[in-house]
Amino acid sequence: MPEDLLEKIDKSRLPSHIAIIMDGNGRWAKEKGQDRLYGHFHGVESVRNIVEGCAELGVGYLTLYAFSTENWDRPKNEVDGLMELLVDTIRKEVSMLNKNNIRLHVIGDKEMLPDYARNELQEALEMTSQNTGLNLVMALSYSSRWELVNAVKLIALDVKEGKIDPENIDQNTLQAYLTTSQFPDPELMIRTSGEYRISNFLLYQLAYAELYFTNTRWPDFRKENLYEAIIDFQNRERRFGKTSEQVSPTPVMA
Ligand code: IPE
Ligand code: IPE
Ligand code: MG
Repeated sequence: MPEDLLEKIDKSRLPSHIAIIMDGNGRWAKEKGQDRLYGHFHGVESVRNIVEGCAELGVGYLTLYAFSTENWDRPKNEVDGLMELLVDTIRKEVSMLNKNNIRLHVIGDKEMLPDYARNELQEALEMTSQNTGLNLVMALSYSSRWELVNAVKLIALDVKEGKIDPENIDQNTLQAYLTTSQFPDPELMIRTSGEYRISNFLLYQLAYAELYFTNTRWPDFRKENLYEAIIDFQNRERRFGKTSEQVSPTPVMA
């Protein structure tokens, strides 16, 4: 029962940022003898459910990997269908986002998006910009190598213009030039569908994220699966390079 799982979650120790590689739509559809786009279509229901689940729990940031820069190389009918579905969904869901105080953000190479998609997205960003609840970050036409190259380029330009002294470049500088500069690093990264890889997602930001992999295909992923991932996260010891004794000192008996 989802409620039983929900009770096991310690609300004071939620991951501040959850990032999800929503994978397995195509295989889910093929297994049902359907077209890959049928899987993407059903994946939208999971997005709704998980966004709602995170908002209810009080998670601060949820990043969803919806389309990678490499996904542009898929067959044209899939790319076109996916773009339309993404834009259509965002347009339809803006009122739900506003009702639930959810602020939308988009990270990725917006230059590669068709004009209609870029315009719709811009509108949705503006319409939700005053919301102060869950931050929903859609990674669209995103890849981490694109982001890192882009950041290096922007830093180089600012060095050239004398705005930055190369001697002073540190991790904070790089962080400030990433598309995720306004967000904390993800603490929990979930990938669905039984693949065990990162696929060019937030390579820098995931440095100390807890990774959670599940065989569940994305269109079958629901709140209870999210709760299971969070419970698993809460049972991990996060050491950040230190020793177990340093991070969880044994209490001294009175
Ligand atoms: C994830 O599902 C959605 C996107 C990458 C856009 P896939 O389309 O990758 O589905 P599989 O992995 O082929 O099953
Ligand atoms: C990663 O999934 C990208 C998204 C979920 C949007 P892919 O299906 O594109 O990744 P690979 O090709 O299996 O690594
Ligand atoms: Mg895939």
